[in-house]
This record gives sequence, C-alpha cells and structure tokens, in this order.
Amino acid sequence: MTEMIKNRFLYPLGYSSVKIDPFDYIVFTKFLVNINKVYAMLCTIIVLLMTTAFSCVHAKIDISWNYDKHGTDWPDKCFSGLRQSPINLLSEWEYSPNLNPIEFKNYCNATFNSTRIYNKGTTVSMKMENSIKRHMPHMYGAWLVGKYYVSELHFHWGSKEVGGSEHMINGKRLDVELHIVHKLQDLNAGAEQNSSGIAVVGILFEISRGKNMQPFFKTIFDSVTKVKKHNHGSYIPYMDLCPILSNVDLTDYFIYNGSLTTPDCREGVTWIVFRHPLKIFPNDAFKLWSLRDYRGKQLSNNFRNVMPLNNRKVYHFKGNAHFIKRLQLN
Ligand SMILES: *[C@@H]1O[C@H](CO)[C@@H](O)[C@H](O)[C@H]1NC(C)=O
Ligand SMILES: *[C@@H]1O[C@H](CO)[C@@H](O)[C@H](O)[C@H]1NC(C)=O
Ligand SMILES: *[C@@H]1O[C@H](CO)[C@@H](O)[C@H](O)[C@H]1NC(C)=O
Ligand SMILES: *[C@@H]1O[C@H](CO)[C@@H](O)[C@H](O)[C@H]1NC(C)=O
Repeated sequence: MTEMIKNRFLYPLGYSSVKIDPFDYIVFTKFLVNINKVYAMLCTIIVLLMTTAFSCVHAKIDISWNYDKHGTDWPDKCFSGLRQSPINLLSEWEYSPNLNPIEFKNYCNATFNSTRIYNKGTTVSMKMENSIKRHMPHMYGAWLVGKYYVSELHFHWGSKEVGGSEHMINGKRLDVELHIVHKLQDLNAGAEQNSSGIAVVGILFEISRGKNMQPFFKTIFDSVTKVKKHNHGSYIPYMDLCPILSNVDLTDYFIYNGSLTTPDCREGVTWIVFRHPLKIFPNDAFKLWSLRDYRGKQLSNNFRNVMPLNNRKVYHFKGNAHFIKRLQLN
C-alpha cells in the first residue's frame, strides 16, 4: 500500500504517464463499431419483441463513449465547442471584486434519506431528489439567472498511477473531483434544454493520511463498494451535504462559463470550482478504483482532458471578512 502511494506521487501531473498505442486504438475502435452494429441489431429485434426496451437502449447509449482517450475522440460540441470544460485554473488570476459572490443556502439544513447511488458505467452517481423541497440546498449570485437547486452528485477519479480530477489548479491534477450538479429552479426536466439551466460546483480532493476524515465521505464510500458493477444501484440511508460544504474553504473559488464534461458537452454551464482541496484517506480513493465500467474493465482515470480557455474570462473570488459574514450554509 505504501508502495502504491509512493508511485502515486511520483507522477503529480498525472496523465503524462498514460500511454495510448495508436494501433491498439484503431483495432479497438473497429471492434467497438462492430459491437455497436451487433447491439443495434439486437436492439431492433428486442424492440420488436418487447414493448419495453429500456435496458437495451441504455447499453447502447453507454457504449458510445468512454475515457480511453480522455475525451479527445468525443464528437459534436465536445469536438467543436469553444467554451468547454474542464480547464486549467491559475491561482494568480486576480481577485474580481466587481462580481457578486455566490450565496449557498440550506446546505446544512437538509438531509437526504434513501439517496440512490448508481454505477453509470462511466462514474458513480447519486440523485438528490428525496429531500423536502423547501429545505433543498441551492445557490444564487454572480451571474446566475435564478436559484440553482442541488440535483445530482458524481465523482471523477484517477488510479494508483495518476490523479483524476478534471479541473487542474496551476497545472496540477488532483486526485478526485466531486461535481455537485445544480439545476435552475422549477425547470427540473427542462433544465437540460434551458441554455442556462445547469450550474456545477466542483470540489477537489487530495489523498492524505491526515486526520481530517469526514463521516460524510464514509457513508458515500462505503456505498460505493456496493455498486461495483455497471447498472448496479444501492441506497445510502442518510446523507447530509453539510460536512462537505462546511469543510471547503468557501471564500476562494473560480467561476466561469463552460460546458458539461461528458458528451454531449453542451455549453452554458456555470462552473464554480473551489481552489483548495479537501483531504480523503487512501482507502476511500481505493474504493473508487474498485469500480467496473460498462465493459467490465476497471473504471479509473475517468477525467476529460483540460480544454482551451479561448479568451473566456474566469473570475477568481477571494472572500474578505465582509463576504464571509454573508455566507449562509443554513
Ligand atoms: C428522514 O429521516 C428522518 C429520521 O427518520 C426523519 O426525521 C426525516 O423527516 C426524514 N426526512 C425526509 C425528507 O423524509
Ligand atoms: C431559462 O430559464 C430562465 C429562468 O426561468 C428564463 O428567464 C430564460 O428565458 C430561459 N431560457 C431559455 C432559453 O429558455
Ligand atoms: C457567462 O454567461 C452568462 C450567460 O450567458 C453571461 O451573462 C455572463 O456575462 C457570462 N460571463 C462571462 C464572464 O463571460
Ligand atoms: C431550515 O429551513 C426551514 C425552511 O426554510 C426554516 O424554517 C428553518 O429555520 C431552517 N433551519 C435552520 C437551522 O436554518
């Protein structure tokens, strides 16, 4: 185990050590194309035979992309978009005092009973839909056009060799990144279609042997081991976002206009990424590495490469005493 950790930290820049053999890739793509044809045929037959073809459709959607090339082979907006995520964030970017801060409400005033945790084959996801609506954590401020409510949580992670955060800080890839997806109030299903329907909070993690273990993570990571295989689901009996948000340094974050980091990479997503990582125990990261993807392979290094900034403005918010007083987690 110590050996693994040592290896881990020999490669702080992460994916520089990931090698992809172009020949393997071509053979593999051809294989995928064939698999897709077989799937398409099977799906058609099953659709004809049965009225519900949900699992079939599901398998087809999932198999159309993966992290083998960290997104460089994804189509459409992922390929052509000019406001894409993730990006490399620089701490030297100036404090932007002319921007209203983001306000966080109710993150310490909502418990989520029976949160479903689910292996999507590309990440592990938790739907946060069982809280009482009026206590629902939400945020507003900056250029957000309304209140954005917590909707879903998922992780991106590396492996024993490399870190797996999506956003980089000063060129450094951290170990794990949590995305708390928020949707614009009252849009719910329609949020995906509204051009400013989604805002995502990114929280970075660093593997550490320190004593800052949060019980919040324990409930999540214990449940991760129950959904090792694709399509497997389980329930987290009780969950609370308070420990996570109250331990993050909420006074130092970046905010910019970007995209989803998975296909179809749609744009119009507001990103809020906290500058300082939280610490997790190695054992918890190992639990993420034990998951399997939709092909039955180890689900690891599920991060997209950083994308060009293309003249976008990133605001770096560093709170002062006045700002800290205005924070309302409750
Ligand atoms: C969650 O469970 C607790 C304890 O059983 C209960 O007090 C609370 O009302 C429940 N909350 C929801 C949203 O069901
Ligand atoms: C998105 O939702 C906001 C708030 O409801 C609304 O003001 C805006 O017009 C919507 N935009 C689109 C493109 O539907
Ligand atoms: C981000 O997008 C919103 C909505 O389109 C816009 O109002 C805002 O000015 C943009 N911010 C920056 C820094 O580009
Ligand atoms: C939680 O939210 C409810 C409804 O908004 C409010 O009545 C209550 O005072 C809040 N509790 C705390 C501890 O902030």
